[in-house]
Amino acid sequence: MECKKDIIDVDDLKIKEVEQILKNADSFREVLERDIKKVPALRAKTVINMFYEPSTRTKISFELAAKRLGADVINFSASGSSLLKGESDQDTLDTIKAMKADLAVIRHKNSGYVNYLAQNTDIPVINAGDGRHAHPTQALLDLYTIKKSFDRIKGLKVAIVGDIKNSRVARSDIKLFNRMGMDVTIIAPSMLMPENMEMYQVHTAHKIDDVIKKADVVYMLRMQFERQSKGYYPSIREYCRFLSLDLTRAKKMKEEAIIMHPGPVNRNIEIQDCLFSEKIIQGKIKINEQVTNGVAVRMALLYFVFNCGEK
Ligand code: CP
Repeated sequence: MECKKDIIDVDDLKIKEVEQILKNADSFREVLERDIKKVPALRAKTVINMFYEPSTRTKISFELAAKRLGADVINFSASGSSLLKGESDQDTLDTIKAMKADLAVIRHKNSGYVNYLAQNTDIPVINAGDGRHAHPTQALLDLYTIKKSFDRIKGLKVAIVGDIKNSRVARSDIKLFNRMGMDVTIIAPSMLMPENMEMYQVHTAHKIDDVIKKADVVYMLRMQFERQSKGYYPSIREYCRFLSLDLTRAKKMKEEAIIMHPGPVNRNIEIQDCLFSEKIIQGKIKINEQVTNGVAVRMALLYFVFNCGEK
């Protein structure tokens, strides 16, 4: 490849480029509906999926996206690799590069480490989520899902609810939604708010009831228990009292408003189980659409990166 375009966070994309990726995602979404769900855009390219942290959605959808574009995909998992014999992450990436991989998709538990690896390799790197820092492809697929639901983006009111402090999804979503002209409010108790709040340029609230009637998008975040060594919240019961989306709250939402969640959902914490079977609410829940759109958006992003960001 004659260029190296890394996507570490949403700021690596200009607004025009985001718009182009969403437009191309429309075409790829159509490919996914065909009997033969494949185009040869990346034929003979090799994508390596390197996941140092668990994943279902991101890992599988990157694999599917690359395969739908005709690329070969190698899945690397930390468990079962020579990392267990002491090989470093950098040496692992160099080893894979030596086998002529063309692009690496990397998830890592340490914030900033994907960027470090990207700076030290000459193949393009896409961040599939690093620690609390960023999850740019989640933000792109979220934006695409919102656009598909409303046929517009600018001016929409988005409420992002829950564990903002530990969430890379929240950080990338906030940045991208702000840049695209949406009106963002984050809702969390003070112990789950990030420390440098002023950086985020958002409205804040502490209870879901403060925003539920006005929001167009109610974006429920996963409680990041694996990053909460300090036990940021007194109890799940207390959390649900102020932050969980239950039927009473969901019924107060605007008629056209939607519910999103990056997955995996902790049922009966962020969203009460009964909502998934409640007919009047089911249509609002876009979680499966987010997953489907994730494949098309990642196809569009891979296509963009392999074409040096030109198309
Ligand atoms: N939303 C998301 O990143 O999910 P996974 O951890 O399953 O990839």
